[in-house]
Amino acid sequence: MEIVDDKLNMDFTSIASTTTRNLEIPAEFCLFEGSPDPCTIVIVGASGDLTARKVVPALFNLYLNDGLPNPFLIFGCARTKMGDKDFRDRMKKALIEIKNPDNQKWETFSESLHYRIIDYNDLPSFKNLADSLRELDKKSGTRGNRIFYLAIPPDLYKPTAQMIGKTGLSAEGETGNGWSRIVVEKPFGQDLDTAIDLDRSLHEYFREHQIFRIDHYLAKETVQNILMFRFANAIFEPVWDRRYIDHVSITAAETLGVEHRSGYYEQAGVLRDMFQNHMMQLLALTAMEPPSLFEANRVRDEKTKVYRSLRPFPVENLHEYIVLGQYGEGVIDGERVPAYRDEPGIKTDSLTPTFAMMKVFLDNWRWQGVPFYITSGKRLAKKITEISIQFKEVPHSMFRQSLGEHITANRLILGVYPDEKISLTFQTKNPGAKLCLRSVAMDFRYHQNYSGPVLDAYEKVLLDCMTGDHMLFWRQDAVELCWSFLTPILQECEMCRDRSKMLLTYEAGSGGPQSKKILRQNSSLEK
Ligand SMILES: NC(=O)c1ccc[n+]([C@@H]2O[C@H](COP(=O)([O-])OP(=O)(O)OC[C@H]3O[C@@H](n4cnc5c(N)ncnc54)[C@H](OP(=O)(O)O)[C@@H]3O)[C@@H](O)[C@H]2O)c1
Repeated sequence: MEIVDDKLNMDFTSIASTTTRNLEIPAEFCLFEGSPDPCTIVIVGASGDLTARKVVPALFNLYLNDGLPNPFLIFGCARTKMGDKDFRDRMKKALIEIKNPDNQKWETFSESLHYRIIDYNDLPSFKNLADSLRELDKKSGTRGNRIFYLAIPPDLYKPTAQMIGKTGLSAEGETGNGWSRIVVEKPFGQDLDTAIDLDRSLHEYFREHQIFRIDHYLAKETVQNILMFRFANAIFEPVWDRRYIDHVSITAAETLGVEHRSGYYEQAGVLRDMFQNHMMQLLALTAMEPPSLFEANRVRDEKTKVYRSLRPFPVENLHEYIVLGQYGEGVIDGERVPAYRDEPGIKTDSLTPTFAMMKVFLDNWRWQGVPFYITSGKRLAKKITEISIQFKEVPHSMFRQSLGEHITANRLILGVYPDEKISLTFQTKNPGAKLCLRSVAMDFRYHQNYSGPVLDAYEKVLLDCMTGDHMLFWRQDAVELCWSFLTPILQECEMCRDRSKMLLTYEAGSGGPQSKKILRQNSSLEK
């Protein structure tokens, strides 16, 4: 990473001038760091939703921005019977649903798309795949460097990784192979035991540096920016602790329901779908100590320390720390929407939570006694992902004769999505002779003064897989610590006899279950 203003030798004369004028950093300057090695990305499960909606569009966009190595091949495989041309047509059709691609550019890009039929449990079919890959390597010069992207249902991760290993494709620098990497999508297991089991089987044939546990959330610009904001500025860290911060709210709310993923969601629910991964990452980025260097393992070490300091939930009075809900019918954007239990593919007596709010404590020096309110849910009033740092009130109000004891405390909002912003509220004097205060906000919009290309989250993680950078990927120790923290709640919620009592129904389009008093009214949804 480079410090842009030094590199460009820019003259920053005052803070005021930086906020008002365009910084004129060439857009391409920060887009890519180095060029990845030539390689092939093998997408296993390439007939599925993720490939069509996320992976191939992201690769195409990288291509448009000159971000792909040369040569570069995409090798889709799955059981669905298709040839190269069908696969290319299918990917183009999916892309058109997102945006209208430049036909000429697509035609050139699509020549790198290939497809082979495989059976996930059949060794000969993987041997054929290996032969095809080696042949294409020779023809195209991709040097045997390969990424195996598992875009398949999670129960196929284990057998597929083993098949790749058994055909010798995981061994690096042998039999025509260059480097070999495997990408695993969340969920990493269903609980602690299954996560350990999955990891064990991945390690049968792959070493840790070859394994990329993807969480695309981490690659969102505004999420990456949390560390820059905290550790590239000197003024926030001194107040970033229990002495100045009253509480922290981390919220990821969506208006969408379960959509087309009912089979997966029924099994996962909000705790596995959002908390085990994205919410825990946002917590770690907000609470971690500064690493000595911005380097993958040092950053991940600090995150792991946050997870180690999570205070276990007291299972005997769980209701004081967690609220679970499931959406009923309601109105979103003026349209009536069905209850979760009436959605296609969902059981009519389903007890899967679609909403959770937790009060979490970190038992360490910095955060002792500061509650973190973590909230996520579907079919809520608004789509919003943000971190809200609520500072304490002033210790003594010198204005109490006119304004009383309480003065609204400062609040810092790190908006992740869709409002990509940083906003700090503070008190100012209202114009006039009478002593009156008003809350105002200092706002920074993330794309302010920037009109160049932006990498979306999948583009960034795919690029990192190609360069072998683990910074934005989960490490197994963190996966296991988060499962250790959540598994007792999952067990309590899923196995206790009065499970249905724990699950509160909330109206779609609302702020979640009414009864959240134990957690105070801290969610961004209440503001
Ligand atoms: N879609 C997303 O936005 C998203 C986001 C985050 C994580 N993920 C994860 O990424 C992985 C792939 O997601 P996806 O949405 O692309 O999955 P998907 O469409 O349901 O499945 C991908 C492919 O897997 C194959 N498959 C094999 N056995 C299957 C089975 N029993 N049921 C369904 N498909 C089966 C199918 O191909 P063939 O029949 O041709 O073999 C299918 O086209 C999953 O682990 C998912 O949890 C997805």
